Amino acid sequence: MTTPRPETVAKLTPVLTKRWLSPDAWRIGTYEQLDGYAALRKALKAHPDDLIQLIKDSGLRGRGGAGFPTGLKWGFIPQGDGKPHYLVVNADEGEPGTCKDLPLMTHDPHALVEGVIIASYAIRASRAYIYIRGEAVHAARRLRNAVQEAYDKGYLGRNILRSGYDLELVVHSGAGAYICGEETALLDSLEGFRGQPRLRPPFPATHGLYASPTVVNNVGTIASVPPIVLGGADWWKSMGTEKSSGPMIYSLSGRVANPGQYECSMGVTLRELLELAGGMQPGHNLRFWTPGGSSTPLLAAEHLDVPLDFEGVAAAGSILGTTATQIFSDQDCPVYATYRWLEFYHHESCGKCTPCREGNYWMVRVYRRILAGQGTHEDLDTLLDTCDNILGRSFCGLGDGATSSVTSSLKYFKQDYLDYIEGRTAPKLSDKQLVGAH
Ligand SMILES: Cc1cc2nc3c(=O)[nH]c(=O)nc-3n(C[C@H](O)[C@H](O)[C@H](O)COP(=O)(O)O)c2cc1C
Ligand code: SF4
Repeated sequence: MTTPRPETVAKLTPVLTKRWLSPDAWRIGTYEQLDGYAALRKALKAHPDDLIQLIKDSGLRGRGGAGFPTGLKWGFIPQGDGKPHYLVVNADEGEPGTCKDLPLMTHDPHALVEGVIIASYAIRASRAYIYIRGEAVHAARRLRNAVQEAYDKGYLGRNILRSGYDLELVVHSGAGAYICGEETALLDSLEGFRGQPRLRPPFPATHGLYASPTVVNNVGTIASVPPIVLGGADWWKSMGTEKSSGPMIYSLSGRVANPGQYECSMGVTLRELLELAGGMQPGHNLRFWTPGGSSTPLLAAEHLDVPLDFEGVAAAGSILGTTATQIFSDQDCPVYATYRWLEFYHHESCGKCTPCREGNYWMVRVYRRILAGQGTHEDLDTLLDTCDNILGRSFCGLGDGATSSVTSSLKYFKQDYLDYIEGRTAPKLSDKQLVGAH
């Protein structure tokens, strides 16, 4: 295992993770001792519009995958419209490889609760929801406990800290569907319907939850708000790059010596992250990786020095996504990894639109054929053609995301496909697993 150099260690910028190792970090007493709820006291003395401006000035961009500017999103909420406004926190975190929001809610749930109160005050919402995925029982328990502690201390409920501001916060557990992380499907699910994406426009900013103005933000986005209120926009911008400001939690998994969450300034490279994580596991050499979960095109060993910010990853032909860096080595097969991801997308496709529902179904079958040693050269054209018909033609981002690993693995690792087709690699699937593949 390699020891990181001091200049690489200096890349660590613990802001959202800074309390995670404190004893009982999830309890309100610990949180209050470590700056907790100081930002709320400050925010409640400010005008809501000034808070929206502060978030705009900080350059904070959504941590849910798309990197949309948060202050701009808050500014879209019409004011003085006489309708209820809602803040909905997206805590579904279902993207394969992604594991930054659940640890945050488990270790430091008050950071999210405080962020929710400030954000709700800024957009003039008197009701907020945290939609957490159903399987995350432990995190949901911690969160519910934190919400109760905040009510007991007067940070939630009526007349918060005697400011005249009222807020009710509800933690809602979903039933566990990846599509319910898509913001409009999430809203349908929260309203009690089957979670399927809505047609846009109208957008949630005007017609969101219960057809009222709604902000949907990721856990990491909202948990970033208290530090920005306390530290200011310039401090936040002193970390990261010009267009991707602040720190980011990078989750390393796979063939790495010390997998886990590493919070660094945006723009850190995988080479530096691997150094922080003790390098690759012994006997493994980096072969391919995802910069931001399975919906983002694969990158290869040649991309070790790509700056991991929104612009840098886009320039390398991929997407920063959720900064879930899944590391694969020369002992892993890109064809098989892509197949496993496709099984996931096929299973999680909500079925609303034909390209995604049928396209993923067919691609899974083509992969099974290839991995069972019965693929043909035409299968590779079929895969690319199917991706062409899914990407940009699907109703929501799930369909688009499913094509990422297919097209990128064919771009970088076509030889691996040919080795199965031409019999140089032993089949990974048996005839039994081929049912329906022809
Ligand atoms: C299939 C699918 C799943 C998604 N899952 C999540 C998720 O689990 N958490 C999340 O914050 N955003 C998820 N998103 C993105 C949301 O639709 C939305 O962009 C995000 O919650 C906005 O928050 P942000 O601006 O703070 O990033 C998903 C999108 C798609 C298409
Ligand atoms: S792209 Fe897939 S998940 Fe999205 S609406 Fe279409 S079928 Fe549903």
